[in-house]
Amino acid sequence: MSKKTSSVHYNNYLDLDKILDAQHPLSNSKGNNEAHEEMLFIIIHQTYELWFKQIIHEITSIMTLFRKEKIDEENVGLIVGRLERVNKILEVLVKQLDILETMTALDFLDFRNFLSPASGFQSHQFRQLEVMLGLKIEARHQFGGCPYHSQFSGDKKEEILKLEDNDSLFLLVEKWLERIPFLNMKDFDFIKKYKSSVLSMLKSEVTAINDLESLNEREKKIRTRMIEENKKYFENIFNEKNHLKSIQEGYTKLSYKATMSALLINLYREEPILQLPYKFLRELVEVDHKISLWRFRHVQMVEKMLGQKIGTGGSSGQGYLKQTVDQHRLFEDVANIATLMISREYLPDLPKNIKQELGYNFSNKNI
Ligand code: HEM
Repeated sequence: MSKKTSSVHYNNYLDLDKILDAQHPLSNSKGNNEAHEEMLFIIIHQTYELWFKQIIHEITSIMTLFRKEKIDEENVGLIVGRLERVNKILEVLVKQLDILETMTALDFLDFRNFLSPASGFQSHQFRQLEVMLGLKIEARHQFGGCPYHSQFSGDKKEEILKLEDNDSLFLLVEKWLERIPFLNMKDFDFIKKYKSSVLSMLKSEVTAINDLESLNEREKKIRTRMIEENKKYFENIFNEKNHLKSIQEGYTKLSYKATMSALLINLYREEPILQLPYKFLRELVEVDHKISLWRFRHVQMVEKMLGQKIGTGGSSGQGYLKQTVDQHRLFEDVANIATLMISREYLPDLPKNIKQELGYNFSNKNI
């Protein structure tokens, strides 16, 4: 049997000639001396774009898995693993700004004029990622009255507009949470049980305050009022209509049913079947936090490089970017489930049959 020798070479496989021939500083045009720092500026942006490509690859595969009619345990495991990878990449993306910050504002001015009006604002992959995750055009902080996609034309514009019309990861996760069949199980109405646990928790908190001899009447009143405020928050979530109003007014994004499922997953996360869904929700919040962190670090870097100067893309610069740090978050409602958590002592007990349904039952009967 003859062994075939492979003709694949490291250089060809990675198409290195193309990649390594793709850095073209503009400062050396028209007989000028090349600005030393421009190479770093180009390479760092190219590296970001490569990592954006990998993140989009992972998010696309996660969204494909979520579109399946049935998402079994194995799929949730895959989804969690890929989202963990996205988070590791995002960590590197935040850290990479440290390298660029070895360039000073003065160094930057050596070549900034050559690249105008190009700007990260025109990164198609960054926009793709935002839209795929669920950032809707109406929720964006706009500048200059132009939609962000006016930066693109032809196929690139079509691609973004199509993504805007498609289901986002946010929507797919919301639908998945709404489908989770544990909210109203036989013999166990979660929302009803949760409500009565919250009310007894708040009641015993008030009793505990009134029993405290170390507090005077005024202090007791203040603390009781704080608990009343807390109660209002919970009452809001007990009433689906209030939740809907909060969505309409733009304070909340996640539907009532999905919020209650996310709460159930968080409260009963120790049940074997809920461990992976819980891990998934945590990773999702982490993605949101890491992108936000990148936005914040990018603003800090822009401040060091440009101060209050406007951006090459025509925005107000750091003023515009600062607004996006909070406004462009997507999974805040999943993080805010923490507000609704109650301690284990008040957690309604799951009936035995339900506990069995949620657990992996290993039986040694047939061994
Ligand atoms: C010297 C370094 C940098 C400066 C001074 C800078 C400056 C800016 C400014 C002022 C904006 C606002 C839009 C505009 O008016 O241009 C912007 C947007 C943006 N930049 Fe940078 N940037 C730098 C490096 C980077 C790097 C390394 C990346 C990595 C890909 C990047 C990605 C982006 C993205 C994605 C946006 C759009 C953000 C949004 O609209 O939410 N920037 N940049």
